[in-house]
Amino acid sequence: MNANQIRQLYPITKDRAYLFSGGLAPVSVRHEKAIKKHMDWLTQDPDDLYVNGLDNDASDCRRMFAQLTGCNEDEVAIVESTSAGCNIAFDLIEPVAGGNVVFDDFSYPSSVFPWHLSPHEDLTKRFVHAREDGIIHLEDFEQSIDEKTVAVCISHVTPIEGFKQNIKEVTRIAHAKGAIVIVDGAQSAGAMKIDLHDTDVDFFSTTAMKWLLGAAGVAFLYVAKRHHGKNPTRAGYASTQGFDIHDFRLKDNAQRFELGMPNLLGLAFTKPGLEILLEIDMKMVEEHNLDLSGYAIAGMKERGIQVTTHDDPKYRLGVISARHQEAEGLWKYLHDNKVDTYYFGDIFRVDPHIFNDRHDIDMLLKGIDDFGK
Ligand SMILES: Cc1ncc(COP(=O)(O)O)c(C=O)c1O
Repeated sequence: MNANQIRQLYPITKDRAYLFSGGLAPVSVRHEKAIKKHMDWLTQDPDDLYVNGLDNDASDCRRMFAQLTGCNEDEVAIVESTSAGCNIAFDLIEPVAGGNVVFDDFSYPSSVFPWHLSPHEDLTKRFVHAREDGIIHLEDFEQSIDEKTVAVCISHVTPIEGFKQNIKEVTRIAHAKGAIVIVDGAQSAGAMKIDLHDTDVDFFSTTAMKWLLGAAGVAFLYVAKRHHGKNPTRAGYASTQGFDIHDFRLKDNAQRFELGMPNLLGLAFTKPGLEILLEIDMKMVEEHNLDLSGYAIAGMKERGIQVTTHDDPKYRLGVISARHQEAEGLWKYLHDNKVDTYYFGDIFRVDPHIFNDRHDIDMLLKGIDDFGK
């Protein structure tokens, strides 16, 4: 498939310019069909769904996520949110007296907050700051990470600034000092080509509900094979090799970090999204998103909008952020005129994905022009 064929699958594209993939994925005709099938199954024969259907969507989703992100299926756990995945990784890190944990100015709250809890609450929290050019420089990670750093917790692409970090290089710097790397991939997975093995990160957590074209309540936690021997702090029947309560043996893969029944409806919804992405080369998705975000940035700047996301494709992906005094008003005006964007305080955000095209960006730019009149 190509981008235009994917566009045809999404009914919303006929009526609206949907530029909010950093928030929630819309429904395609394939999703509608999959949900209907799942509902029919639940309506007519839940017993058969339970006995014959239960594991299929989960293992299909693990396998497809692994294919999309360059890792092995046995390194993927299905969890309920990006935040839950980051917390599982946090739980696996050995406490170190006098140690520190490194974030950057753009780390997501769910990457930072767990570190205020036992057993890591006493670690020194270090933040690598963005410089005036809006970039978190790799040299500044070099300065902040030392032999006492237990972990580096950052976002691959950040939702407020739209900044893309080079996670392979950060990991190289961190590993040289013996630190573990935990990456929040909520704004990158599904929007670009990712090879997790090549980046060498330790943990990578992402929701399915955004760029992966799936559902809220479903997320994927990549756990590099070298951590599969670590013991979780919680266990359920899904974590163990068997069901015998006198025989406690954890699975020897990332599934030891799962507990019980996954979100079946969410998985049924997530599967078609992953399938769509697998039918197009992820490099093409990345190039498409960079092209649209570049086109939108140029158009917004021409109109005097204070775009904060970097021009250089090296530092951006699908999320474009701007500061706007009337961000809420602009969002509402655009929404009323069939252009879906996002605002958060004075941040105005636009997130084009594979089902968008330049016409959608033109609708956005026209809306910005008309709002100013
Ligand atoms: C970078 C990033 N991480 C995490 C989240 C939240 O993910 P979840 O609700 O799956 O924990 C978001 C949501 O916008 C995000 O942008």
